[in-house]
Amino acid sequence: MLNSRFDELRDYPFQRLRDLLDRHPTPAGRPVINLTIGEPQHAYPDFVGRIMAENAHLYGKYPPVAGTPDLRAAIGDWLTRRYRLKAGALDPERHIVPLGGTREGLFMLALAAVPERKAGQRPVVLMPNPFYQVYAGAAVAAGGEAVFLPALPDKGFLPDIDHIDPAVLDRTAMLYLCSPANPQGTVADLAYLQRAIRLARKHDFVVVFDECYAEIYDRDPPPGGLEAAASLGDGFANVAVFHSLSKRSSVPGLRSGFCAGDEKLMAVFSKIRTYGAAGLSLPACAASAALWRDEAHVEANRALYREKFDIAQSIIGNRLGFFRPAGGFYLWLDTGNGEEAAVKLWREAGVRTLPGSYLTRDTGDAATAAGTKPYLRIALVDTADRTRDAMERVRDTLC
Ligand SMILES: Cc1ncc(COP(=O)(O)O)c(C=O)c1O
Repeated sequence: MLNSRFDELRDYPFQRLRDLLDRHPTPAGRPVINLTIGEPQHAYPDFVGRIMAENAHLYGKYPPVAGTPDLRAAIGDWLTRRYRLKAGALDPERHIVPLGGTREGLFMLALAAVPERKAGQRPVVLMPNPFYQVYAGAAVAAGGEAVFLPALPDKGFLPDIDHIDPAVLDRTAMLYLCSPANPQGTVADLAYLQRAIRLARKHDFVVVFDECYAEIYDRDPPPGGLEAAASLGDGFANVAVFHSLSKRSSVPGLRSGFCAGDEKLMAVFSKIRTYGAAGLSLPACAASAALWRDEAHVEANRALYREKFDIAQSIIGNRLGFFRPAGGFYLWLDTGNGEEAAVKLWREAGVRTLPGSYLTRDTGDAATAAGTKPYLRIALVDTADRTRDAMERVRDTLC
């Protein structure tokens, strides 16, 4: 007897991609360049290894699920600095939940936020389309109905939150938003974030701001959900934000992030986590606290991404609908047909990339298909030299 609830989820995009590309032999003659997954390859600060080693004796202890007070304090200070919150507005004990990476938290928060029924019906979980696939898994796991908001070129790749059917809003338990967006790199402005929060408060749901790419930006620091909530008053009610060290500090293997926001929600979330989650190891807590306290490595990291966007821009130019995203580290190129382009790039040039349609739920909506199928996502996570090589191969193969 298996739970059939998950049948509606397709294979995860990377499995589908392997099925698509691995039918073809690895092209000979040139090294393979893999730009499919958002796994930063930049060096992380040396102090990470040192702190982990200094604290290695603590592997003999079970870590608290809620992380250490020092980690929560470091996160609280960082959030207060980064989003110019009033001193003391955030209480690290009540508003902050450290996580072993945000992926599991984004998933598990739905168990806290989605009730059995909303307005007497099955609750809705709203999310952009295309999107980070974990949101849909979370909706299904929590018994909600995933409802997709197209995030297409005509609206600057942001979901239109101003024209959602009020009947759907009344059934909504959660809205996931991602800014800077994976995959398109769009940054929502403060007014947009405020509108999302007002909507959540009016219709009594939680708005989840996935801000994992908040520290990878081209010009201005993207505004955040806590900042928007603070500007509206009423504390952090109906708001949860997620941040990760994976992208900010190039330590995807450390598994370190956090959720912060609505204190009642954080209390339920923390309780669920005591039943079903593990805390970060104590050495990882110590290294994470040091990372949140250091900005020098984050600035250097941002500069490396800017350099790679410069390289991509100089090679691709204004072809393939090239645009320089405001945030994140993906190129979202209009190739005419993302799946065909991915196969061609792999077979002819040894570059692995991800078709946009693999991040998109097929809802039968023609506009969504037309606004996503032509796209290809390219993660600029490798070194500058390999990025240059990859961009030249993209140009020579697709332009
Ligand atoms: C939009 C988005 N959210 C969350 C995550 C999860 O990151 P992590 O679990 O490493 O914090 C990712 C990772 O690629 C992502 O792209």
